[in-house]
Order: sequence, then C-alpha cells, then structure tokens
Amino acid sequence: MKTVVSGIRSTGHLHLGNYFGALRNFVKIQEQFNCFYFIADLHSLTTHPHPDDFHASVRTILAEYLAAGLDPEKCTLFVQSDVPEVSELYVLLNMLAYKGELERTTSFKDKVRLAKAQARGVAVSDVAENDQNDEGVNINAGLLTYPVLMASDILIHRANYVPVGKDQMQHLEFARTLARRFNNMYGEEVFPEPEAFNFGQAPIKVPGLDGSGKMGKSEGNGIYLYDDEKTITKKVMRALTDSGPKEPNSPMPDYIQNLFTLMALVSEPVVIDQFKAAYADCSIRYGDLKKQLAADICKFTLPIRERIDDIYNNDEFLRKVTRQGAEKARESAAATLALARKAVGFKTF
Ligand code: TYM
Repeated sequence: MKTVVSGIRSTGHLHLGNYFGALRNFVKIQEQFNCFYFIADLHSLTTHPHPDDFHASVRTILAEYLAAGLDPEKCTLFVQSDVPEVSELYVLLNMLAYKGELERTTSFKDKVRLAKAQARGVAVSDVAENDQNDEGVNINAGLLTYPVLMASDILIHRANYVPVGKDQMQHLEFARTLARRFNNMYGEEVFPEPEAFNFGQAPIKVPGLDGSGKMGKSEGNGIYLYDDEKTITKKVMRALTDSGPKEPNSPMPDYIQNLFTLMALVSEPVVIDQFKAAYADCSIRYGDLKKQLAADICKFTLPIRERIDDIYNNDEFLRKVTRQGAEKARESAAATLALARKAVGFKTF
C-alpha cells in the first residue's frame, strides 16, 4: 500500500485554503492509503508563538482535523514534535541542503521581504526583490531551513504521495531533490521520491476575496472553518467587486474570477452557469452572487464547525488520539531512521 504524508502548521484556525487545498483530500484518501497526517508545531516556531498560546494552537488544528472527518482509526494522526526522529533526520538532511538553494526558495524570499517591510514600516511592494540591506531584521535559520524540516516530515515515513496546495509545490520538489541527493550520496535507495497528490488534477490555489491572490493566514483574508454564518456572510459580502461588466462577453477581472473560483468549490454547477451567463450578458448582480456564495460556503463549513468545540474540550479523546498517533508514527519513523543511519555509516559499539 502506498504511503501518504501531509501536515498543517499550528498557527490559528484552518481556512478554506487549507480545507480545499489539503484537508478535504486527506479525508478522502484516508482509507485508501497508509496515511500519516500531523500538526506541524515545530514549523510554527519560526514565528515564535507565545508559550502560553503554543499548545492551544496545536489543539485547535487537531480538533479541526477531527471535526472535518479525519478518523484516527483509519489514518495515523499525530503531533510533529511527538516524533523526535523527524528532528534527527532533519539534522542529517541539513548536511545535504545548500544555502543558495534555500535562499532562492520563494516562500523564504517572501518572508524576508515581509520582515523588511515591517521593520521599515513600508508596504512589501516597496522592498525591491533583490534588496540586500538586512539592517534591522533578524531572519532566523529555522526559516531558511524550513523546507528541510518539511522534507524530513515527508521522507521519515518514506512517503509516496503528498496532498498539498499549490503554494507548497516548490517545497515538495525540494523534498524530492533531497531524497535523490541522499540516495545518490549514500548509494542506497533509502527514500522514494514523493509525488504531489490531487486526484490527477493540478494542485489548487484558493484565492482570497480581497483581490490579493491567495487566501492565507498571513494575508489576513481567511474564511475559517470556525467562522459562524454571520461572519462568513460578512466576509463574503465585503469581497472586492466593481459596478459590473459594461459590454457583453467582457473579460473577467481577477477579483471577480476569484469569486467564481470559490464558487466552483462549493456551489452547484447549474448555479455557477447561471451567474456566468448573467456575467456574459451584463445582467449580473454581484450582491446576489455573493449571497449565493456565502450560503454555499456555510452549507459546507457549518456541519464541521458544529463539531469543533466538543472535540476541542474532550481531553480524554484528544489524549488517546495523540498517544496512539505518536506511537504509530514513531514506529514508522524509527524504521526509516535506522535505514538512514545505517546508510550514513552510524554503527553501535
Ligand atoms: P500550511 O500550514 O501553510 O498550509 C497547510 C496546507 O494548506 C494548503 N493551503 C492552500 N491550498 C490552496 N489554496 C490556499 N490558499 C492555501 N493555503 C494553504 C497548503 O498548500 C498546505 O497543503 N509547510 C506546510 C506544512 C508542512 C507540510 C509538511 C505539508 C510541514 N511539513 C510535510 C506537507 C508535508 C505549510 O506551511 O502548510
């Protein structure tokens, strides 16, 4: 049976990008493959969460995973830091990762630019892409080696498939590179090269509704699984629009296309077609479109939301789930680490 690995960072609630880009697929394939899903709490440390909030954030993602349908009897569900083998493999893989390639990673460059913009009190677009001035910003090494830790998460279970959204594709490509590099250097087929998994479709990017492109936590434009109906409706009704097309069959601006992209995830095809036709003949009313979109998002998320609090507050259940998950994940991780250590040349006296 093929092995699947994926995780989500414990930074706040899950949004529709996390759900449609990743979690929905986690749930769909949990019976079909040997699945390892985790909460990436070590990855969340790059932004130094306050110790008082750290555990609650892990608990939040765990509760939302379970509420969305992950079943601990069908998949291995665990907390990244409960599996120390991941950190040991990270050390080994760090020796094979080059500083230059890490610095060229898009997510790293974006984070550096954002940090510089914040330090200077300017917009990100005011920081040149090739800006070399590091004054006043401290970029921690964990941020630079973030893709190595992610590769370790994937390779420690010798994963074949990784269900992730489009924004993680470069990181996944890097995990493939490290798997190849390790196998080449040590002359052993320790790691299979992991592939993206999205049911044969291209990986998706769920857009934000503010015209900014991606929906994301750091973008501050998330519609969360934990949002109630009123909040979701308010967020959708605020989405950027304009006064509507003036000529039949006009090209669609990005921010309108984004509304349709979200609709494609939650609405019935006939409904989408009606709105598309109305756009084409200029009779569209964006207020109606947004109301429909909000109602259809709620239909999807409210049944999940209803379950979150009960699960979040069920200490005994969460303890059982994480213990069982850690045990299973450690067994798999220890087996891989033993192979990797042997390949590198470690021996006991
Ligand atoms: P994270 O926590 O940022 O996001 C978790 C998952 O949600 C997807 N996602 C999206 N998909 C589509 N559209 C969006 N707007 C959107 N926003 C987020 C992400 O692609 C991801 O699948 N580095 C990872 C966590 C991680 C991981 C791993 C993933 C750590 N180790 C090993 C897979 C395998 C991250 O930061 O994801």
